[in-house]
Amino acid sequence: MLLAFVTLLLVLATRPAQCHQQSYDVVRNFHAAADGKTDDAKAFLAAWKAACSDEARPVVVVPGGRTFLLSQVTFQGPCKSPITIQLDGRIVAPNRIWTTQPANLLVFHGVDSLTLDGNGEIDGRGAIWWDCYNHKRCNARPILLAFSFCDHLRVTRIRLTNSADKHMTLFRCSQALVDGVSIAAPPDSPNTDGITVASSNHTVISNCSIRSGDDCVSILSQTRNVTVTRSTCGPGHGISVGSLGRSESAVVEQIVVTNCSFVGTMNGVRIKSWQGGKGYAKGFLFAGLNMTGVQYPIVIDQFYCPQGNCPVKPGGVAITDARFIDIQGTSSRQEAIRLLCSQSVHCHGIYLSNVNLSWVNHTAPSNATILNAHGTTEGVVVPKIQFLQPL
Ligand SMILES: *[C@@H]1O[C@H](CO)[C@@H](O)[C@H](O)[C@H]1NC(C)=O
Ligand SMILES: *[C@@H]1O[C@H](CO)[C@@H](O)[C@H](O)[C@H]1NC(C)=O
Ligand SMILES: *[C@@H]1O[C@H](CO)[C@@H](O)[C@H](O)[C@H]1NC(C)=O
Ligand SMILES: *[C@@H]1O[C@H](CO)[C@@H](O)[C@H](O)[C@H]1NC(C)=O
Ligand SMILES: *[C@@H]1O[C@H](CO)[C@@H](O)[C@H](O)[C@H]1NC(C)=O
Ligand SMILES: *[C@@H]1O[C@H](CO)[C@@H](O)[C@H](O)[C@H]1NC(C)=O
Ligand SMILES: *[C@@H]1O[C@H](CO)[C@@H](O)[C@H](O)[C@H]1NC(C)=O
Ligand SMILES: *[C@@H]1O[C@H](CO)[C@@H](O)[C@H](O)[C@H]1NC(C)=O
Repeated sequence: MLLAFVTLLLVLATRPAQCHQQSYDVVRNFHAAADGKTDDAKAFLAAWKAACSDEARPVVVVPGGRTFLLSQVTFQGPCKSPITIQLDGRIVAPNRIWTTQPANLLVFHGVDSLTLDGNGEIDGRGAIWWDCYNHKRCNARPILLAFSFCDHLRVTRIRLTNSADKHMTLFRCSQALVDGVSIAAPPDSPNTDGITVASSNHTVISNCSIRSGDDCVSILSQTRNVTVTRSTCGPGHGISVGSLGRSESAVVEQIVVTNCSFVGTMNGVRIKSWQGGKGYAKGFLFAGLNMTGVQYPIVIDQFYCPQGNCPVKPGGVAITDARFIDIQGTSSRQEAIRLLCSQSVHCHGIYLSNVNLSWVNHTAPSNATILNAHGTTEGVVVPKIQFLQPL
């Protein structure tokens, strides 16, 4: 009996993992035109439908060397087993304003244990949308790649370019890994954030390269435990938490940004909230960051007001326990550090250590503006910070 059991274990252990893994090739099996002109949504959906009901870890193959035109496609879960999309080809959005309704280009909803991997690319062909938006003719613009209710998601290696709006969003996802993904859009493309994480837990973003017209990574409310590491940002607006507390009661905690570099961005690391907001944001570690010509490398702003017409309101999202350690390089503005906290809800537990930010190409020293912030510094901190006493 025992022997039989051990034999069975051996058989299971030596069986190749991919043994019964079936692949669903959108061209070979589902007759995608792959000419970059014909909408291939039907073929993709048929491949998805078949794979999604396969119980043996299926792979949807989007072959390299081909271009696939896709308009709005929703890949709906749940599926019968973990599912992989091998994206080696190039997906392009229609080169026209293809919707006037709020709609996103590729949507994955309720799919657990999805892997999206490959050398492929998704090109949002956003220029026409940016122009439309800049002329106030388009309100709703499609997000390139939107994941919602997707647990154990892995997005690796692919390249996302020129989204009409944000490039990738994670909403209500738990344990997502985004690794080695590159994202690129021009610096003046409006709201083309790289990766937005909202209402999600346990997210890792690593080895990514992000150039965009807005935040490289933005972290929104109801989000816990995000790590961004070994990634580069710029051009773009930096890695931002918020803006928080505009309409929701904010909950953000355990945010780690390490070993990242920022080149020519508007901000380095930033926490921003609206006046009068509710809730809290706590537990931040920003460490091992390299800034090159960044306008404001370190920012906490409880007076966020992009249009510059916000009434003064008491209260605010409480921002506490933020550590800035080992942050080097240059700012392109003299005011390299801004910690602007509200009179009624001060910031507490701010800590800086081994921070040295000089004003690029100037001999005058950089400076810091500190308002209603309590904290401590240790070792070298340039520019010099004057905190209120820690409580
Ligand atoms: C995140 O964690 C919180 C607290 O444990 C939980 O209430 C929430 O459902 C989780 N969200 C997701 C998307 O897993
Ligand atoms: C944070 O998320 C990572 C990645 O999923 C996970 O390994 C780690 O255990 C989480 N930490 C906590 C305290 O939940
Ligand atoms: C990031 O890349 C490094 C170096 O290639 C690799 O060792 C590491 O595992 C990657 N990070 C993750 C989370 O995959
Ligand atoms: C960050 O870099 C330091 C120094 O090179 C290294 O010791 C550490 O392991 C790195 N951390 C991550 C998460 O890559
Ligand atoms: C910081 O970035 C600059 C420019 O990209 C690079 O020259 C420098 O070596 C980096 N410094 C560190 C400590 O990584
Ligand atoms: C600083 O000077 C260097 C060398 O002249 C130049 O390449 C760089 O663009 C300048 N940086 C800024 C932010 O002006
Ligand atoms: C810091 O520099 C800015 C811009 O040059 C200047 O307006 C501000 O007064 C300076 N702040 C301090 C505290 O010196
Ligand atoms: C800060 O960095 C600058 C430029 O790298 C360097 O010249 C200066 O000595 C450093 N300051 C301290 C206190 O380490």
